[in-house]
Amino acid sequence: MLVGRGLVKRYGEHHALAGVDIAITPGEVLAIVGPSGSGKTTLLHVLAGILRPDDGEVVLDGHRIDRLGEAKRSELRRRDFGFVFQNGMLVGELTAEENTALPLLLAGANRAQAMAGAREWLGRLGLAGMETRRPGELSGGQAQRVAIARALAHQPKVIFADEPTGALDSRTGAETMHALLTAAADNRAAVVIVTHDRELAARAGRVVEIRDGRIAPGVVAA
Ligand SMILES: Nc1ncnc2c1ncn2[C@@H]1O[C@H](COP(=O)(O)OP(=O)(O)O)[C@@H](O)[C@H]1O
Ligand SMILES: [Mg+2]
Repeated sequence: MLVGRGLVKRYGEHHALAGVDIAITPGEVLAIVGPSGSGKTTLLHVLAGILRPDDGEVVLDGHRIDRLGEAKRSELRRRDFGFVFQNGMLVGELTAEENTALPLLLAGANRAQAMAGAREWLGRLGLAGMETRRPGELSGGQAQRVAIARALAHQPKVIFADEPTGALDSRTGAETMHALLTAAADNRAAVVIVTHDRELAARAGRVVEIRDGRIAPGVVAA
């Protein structure tokens, strides 16, 4: 479904990606692990159409997306992809339900539909009763579950999560990971998750390790 072939990304002389081949199948959970600076975030951003590779191609459902202009890639990201980052990146002035409704509004839902959809997703993530709280009034784990609801509400094909539990204690991190994987499975969304945490990575269907901008030989865990 989503395929990267021969991906290269250079920053000056440095190769953040030095030729990566990777394929994500519908509904699968793929964990990307590797040392700091190895190219995990760069790979995620190239696959998600945030960054353009210097060489290689990214193909979504048979269509090359790396050649599209910024406006088309931005439209595709809004429609087909969902994102969860380490620190949630929620809008501080908006309530949990308003944050969650944003991608639905961008996808063309009217306000009533978007707010109803948002409340449903917050409920599914165990946040009933928290709908009108702002991010500052939520715990770290609750805020990440709002971010997960927001990433899933428009039913994207792929969720990209970059160290989504990195700012949480290990127990909250495990709960948040569970919430993400359960919600994605219900939605039949694929998940590409960058994590430092081997225990969390072990819950993925497949793990690849990146070292110096390349996929390390041998699958870490199946
Ligand atoms: N915008 C940038 N400008 C220059 N170098 C960058 C930039 N983004 C990433 N890099 C470099 O590319 C390498 C890979 O970075 P990154 O993908 O963020 O690694 P990871 O997510 O595995 O920690 C690192 O050496 C980093 O310093
Ligand atoms: Mg990173």
